[in-house]
Amino acid sequence: MIFDTHAHYDDEAFDEDREELLSQMAGAKVGAIVNMGASLAGVERSQQLAARYPFIYAGVGVHPDEVGSLDEEKLRGLYELCRSPKTVTVGEIGLDYYWDRENHDTQKQWFVRQLQMAKDVDLPVNIHSRDAAQDTFDIMKTEHAGTTGGIIHCFSASAQMAREYVKLGYYIGVGGVVTFKNARVMKEVVAEVPMDHIVIETDCPYLAPAPHRGKRNSSLYLPLVIEAIAGIKGLSPQEVEKITWENARRVYRFSGNIPL
Ligand code: NI
Repeated sequence: MIFDTHAHYDDEAFDEDREELLSQMAGAKVGAIVNMGASLAGVERSQQLAARYPFIYAGVGVHPDEVGSLDEEKLRGLYELCRSPKTVTVGEIGLDYYWDRENHDTQKQWFVRQLQMAKDVDLPVNIHSRDAAQDTFDIMKTEHAGTTGGIIHCFSASAQMAREYVKLGYYIGVGGVVTFKNARVMKEVVAEVPMDHIVIETDCPYLAPAPHRGKRNSSLYLPLVIEAIAGIKGLSPQEVEKITWENARRVYRFSGNIPL
């Protein structure tokens, strides 16, 4: 079974055919999807998707581009949603110095507060980091390491930094980028990180794997990511599928058919 550890099916890119697309997942062996919160509205929509589809679980968190919308009361609302039964992670949270929509101090402040929330409610985290590798790592190391664990999503830093995260107990999220011809660093990361710390993800609708690069992504394309990882690791796609399924269940703390 395939586990998509990070998706955005609430995105408007799926408004035309969301239901039809999601009805194809079971037949394509996609057994579980975690729909991430990004904005406050996205957090709510993730909860609705999780309530509607048995195989969808929810992340609760506000993306660094959107943290300007947070205040103490809104944060209390997020704490409450963390306790709903299908919430499995605090995410996606982190730092984004590429789009730089909020100033760095604001981003850091709400990143730290949401890391604290993950500790308070005892949920693993799902971390977004873009052009902010060192600041993200420093905050993770001082504020969070060794607590709830989690996933560094769409990992884009060096192989050396991936090793450091694994030492701290985190998992590395690998998506469509690993299939791109020019993705030398991502391939090095996959080669370096032990197989028991790799999980797969789409970040759909973004980052479709080759040969669909630039098009709308979905969990149906994850076999292409699995194949690329298998090629780098010298494993069969079946082995990679099985190991990444188990890894995702471990980091999100599923047991039996239900999380937690
Ligand atoms: Ni995302």
